[in-house]
Amino acid sequence: MHPDDSPAAPAAPARAGDPIDRVWAGCLAIAQARRSGAPAQLSPHAGLVHHDATGWQLGDATGAPARALFALLKPLLDCRTDTRPWVIAQLGQSLDGCIATRTGDARFVNGPDILTHLHRLRALADAVIVGAGTVAIDDPQLTVRHVPGRNPARILFDPQLQLASRIAGVRCLADAQSPVWWMCDARWQDAATQLVGAQRVLAVPDLLRSDGTPRIGAALDALHARGLGLLFVEGGGVTVSRFLAQGALDRLHLAVAPLIIGSGRPGLRFPGPDHLGDCRRPVFHMYTLGSDQLWDLDMRMPQTAT
Ligand SMILES: NC(=O)c1ccc[n+]([C@@H]2O[C@H](COP(=O)([O-])OP(=O)(O)OC[C@H]3O[C@@H](n4cnc5c(N)ncnc54)[C@H](OP(=O)(O)O)[C@@H]3O)[C@@H](O)[C@H]2O)c1
Repeated sequence: MHPDDSPAAPAAPARAGDPIDRVWAGCLAIAQARRSGAPAQLSPHAGLVHHDATGWQLGDATGAPARALFALLKPLLDCRTDTRPWVIAQLGQSLDGCIATRTGDARFVNGPDILTHLHRLRALADAVIVGAGTVAIDDPQLTVRHVPGRNPARILFDPQLQLASRIAGVRCLADAQSPVWWMCDARWQDAATQLVGAQRVLAVPDLLRSDGTPRIGAALDALHARGLGLLFVEGGGVTVSRFLAQGALDRLHLAVAPLIIGSGRPGLRFPGPDHLGDCRRPVFHMYTLGSDQLWDLDMRMPQTAT
């Protein structure tokens, strides 16, 4: 079962006085404005103002938790998606870098605060992307349930159509809660169309390289061409690693749990440099969400050489 698919109660109604709810309502309004191109319809109570130089800012009147939430989500509010997609990924991992046990059990790596954060990222995104392994093992719904917010489009990233034998039973294809696209290389368009219908297939020319790895840039162009600008890659490790290795991530959230898994499914794995000095040291911000440490990594801003 996918880490977020706990049978949680529906999102609690917004509490007018609660600074967190006010800030969240403001974030949703800003995301909607980005999508529609219209000015953000913000309640004056949200305390959010936009400055050309520094982007969205939050007034001082709100307490530390609301300010921390705003700081964590600000990059998603300030991002520009008119000329290219803006991509954020998240993984929940153990202290030893695993996102699931070797049998694929990921229930639950992180605590409830990270689950809520994951639903916030879905609500602000235009589309959520998951890999074939995650669909095969977790069959996630990929909807927004833990917080108020609209469901993103859902992209099943399966360049080689490896889900063909089980696609008929995939839950999100049956719930009509938001669009679902099965993304594959164009050579499998006919086969995919026969299985789920043309409107559910996103066939991308040359998505697969000759070595069998996906060309992430081609996937991003296809999604942007469909008006999907803010993209959230929700796993698993192979898929997030491919986006990272091909320089496609603007932001990465690694939620580290006080957990040791051992020989589990790895989070980030990609061909790394020989020398430590050549390894990535992104600018980071750390947040404590319950018992987990969330590393907010700016993948476009390397730290100055140490
Ligand atoms: N903790 C978290 O944040 C988090 C988030 C998402 C998922 N997960 C867990 O991560 C695991 C999945 O992640 P992942 O990195 O292995 O894969 P993934 O990135 O979700 O999907 C891509 C991989 O899935 C493999 N695959 C394709 N079809 C498959 C099938 N039918 N059954 C199984 N695997 C298939 C592909 O294998 P080839 O390379 O051979 O093509 C490819 O390596 C699951 O256990 C899931 O519960 C954890």
